[in-house]
Amino acid sequence: MNSRRYRIEVMHGVNLDQLGRRDPLLYGTLTLPELERQIEVHARELGLDARCFHTNHEGAFVERLHALAGQADAIMLNPGSWTHYAWAIRDALEIAALPALEIHLSDVQRREPWRRVSVIGDLCFATISGRGPEGYREALVRLRSELERGRS
Ligand code: DQA
Repeated sequence: MNSRRYRIEVMHGVNLDQLGRRDPLLYGTLTLPELERQIEVHARELGLDARCFHTNHEGAFVERLHALAGQADAIMLNPGSWTHYAWAIRDALEIAALPALEIHLSDVQRREPWRRVSVIGDLCFATISGRGPEGYREALVRLRSELERGRS
């Protein structure tokens, strides 16, 4: 039996390093390092390995996606505003060819119309939006189920 823990790449994009300074009504009060620590703890509880990555540079985000082959089993990504227009990130996610889940802290469907567009949504098996940091735990559970379903 293969008992290796699933490796989840958790990717945050542009401006998410500013959590804690951004509108707490939309994004909560956790900083990104605090959120990442929480994700890592939840992942461990669920028997997963989470590795967190953040950049404000679109090319670096793309290159991280390129490098994931053989390094991760699935991706959880919150690309920030890149979600809404960054076709290069969409292409790189397609190249990565791993199960992916899109996540947002705020409820992007209930904000400005331009936030309702996601250029990555159809490449992801699920989207979680508007659940704040708690949504990340749910995302890990969904990712684990998806990977277990793929194995059976
Ligand atoms: C966000 C939503 C995006 O529209 C926004 O540009 C962000 C954060 C979220 O987590 O709610 O930077 O991805």
